[in-house]
Amino acid sequence: AQNIGIRAIDVYFPSRYVDQAELEQHDGVSAGKYTIGLGQSRMSFCDDREDISSMCMTVVQGFMEKHGISYSDIGRLEVGTETILDKSKSTKTVLMKLFEESGNFSVEGIDTTNACYGGTSALFNACQWMDSSAWDGRLALVVAGDIAVYASGNARPSGGCGVVCILVGPDAPLALEFPLRGTFMEHIYDFYKPNLSSEFPIVDGPLSVTSYVRAVDHAYTAYLDKLEKVEGVTNPSLRDIDYIVFHSPYTKQVVKGFARMAYNDFLRNPENEAYAEVQQFKDVSREESYGNKVLEKAFINVSKKEFAIKTEPSLFAASNIGNMYTGSVFFGIASLVTQVPYEQLKGKRVAFFSYGSGCAASMYSFRFRSDTAAITQTLDLAARLESRIKASPVEFESTMELREKTHNAQDYEPAGNVAELFPGTYYLQKIDTMWRRAYGRT
Ligand code: ACO
Repeated sequence: AQNIGIRAIDVYFPSRYVDQAELEQHDGVSAGKYTIGLGQSRMSFCDDREDISSMCMTVVQGFMEKHGISYSDIGRLEVGTETILDKSKSTKTVLMKLFEESGNFSVEGIDTTNACYGGTSALFNACQWMDSSAWDGRLALVVAGDIAVYASGNARPSGGCGVVCILVGPDAPLALEFPLRGTFMEHIYDFYKPNLSSEFPIVDGPLSVTSYVRAVDHAYTAYLDKLEKVEGVTNPSLRDIDYIVFHSPYTKQVVKGFARMAYNDFLRNPENEAYAEVQQFKDVSREESYGNKVLEKAFINVSKKEFAIKTEPSLFAASNIGNMYTGSVFFGIASLVTQVPYEQLKGKRVAFFSYGSGCAASMYSFRFRSDTAAITQTLDLAARLESRIKASPVEFESTMELREKTHNAQDYEPAGNVAELFPGTYYLQKIDTMWRRAYGRT
């Protein structure tokens, strides 16, 4: 198969959000902490009517209806998520319910989990299947997303919620550049979920931030090495990448990630005149550079203009929704095609930086090779984000309490208001005495 990659993409996020400026006030933190400090404007959240299975069903069924694709055309379905409902049964098998009517039960692929990285791994699996002799000519779906919730406290405003459905096929408008990828993985306890009776992660915030930046260093360096080896690019740098979409825990972290790429370019080529103003950082060791706020600010400044063109447009959904863990980078590409017209994207390279705590990270890239206007139109992202309902911080908090109290409930009927869900949303009707979940659709 030729030009394997992203043929279409759709997203789902819940109908309710909380305003981050109102949350600052409610939480009694200084004005600007969440909106400027974290760079977040709104945060999506859901109540006990939705779980990761219902959300994945919503996005997949919505995708198939909008794009007029038949379930019998799908030969592989991969799910990337870290929102685990069951230690054995995968979300993928729940999604097979949607295939029943078509009679297609021959669908490979299963769930992939490691913090926010599972979506990237799922996408690699689908593309590699299509590139292999095991491919039977059918299309693949990649579903990625999470309910990102934190215990009350300083991490809570960095939550969010959303899932994506991606159609992978040959002759794709966004073709994966197979050999161009740089990966970095290591063992670190920055964010993990060892407590299986809670939905919340254990987070070492400062360590997770450094780990993200370290992963940028390594994955970007490995990616540049591939550009050099595979494409014969001399002195590869940011210049060779037109757009960069990042995993966004909150958008300020992405500003820092981009600045870090500039810092790496500077270390590779300190004589470049673009870096004339930051020469004082030439002798700072890499280890020392991680906690160096002056260095961080200097490279944010020096990369500001390039960031505004290459990355900022991809943060539209992230600033309006929050973290979506495995779905985050894909909401980034959905935002980019929404914010930048195809005439500008045509022929350009877009790199993805995917980071999952623990940690697993990759930088990889796609080429825009044919019109993405149909994807943008079907996504209708801006209008859909605007059609949400604003909830007060008090409602948000009581909803988080409800989810916390009813996590892992058995023989339970959810309390959330079905009337507030978007049309076409799957919702939890009941959990029976054997923890089996039944769903309806609005
Ligand atoms: N106006 C403007 N900026 C402000 C204000 C204000 N009033 N108050 C604080 N800030 C700035 C701070 O200076 C800081 O900026 P800096 O990052 O440039 O230093 C920023 O806002 C955040 O403030 P902190 O005091 O550092 O925030 P806190 O420690 O309370 O929480 C944290 C931040 C650690 C990221 C927390 O939200 C968290 O743990 N989140 C979950 C982990 C996470 O997302 N990690 C990222 C990668 S891993 C992943 O994807 C899950």
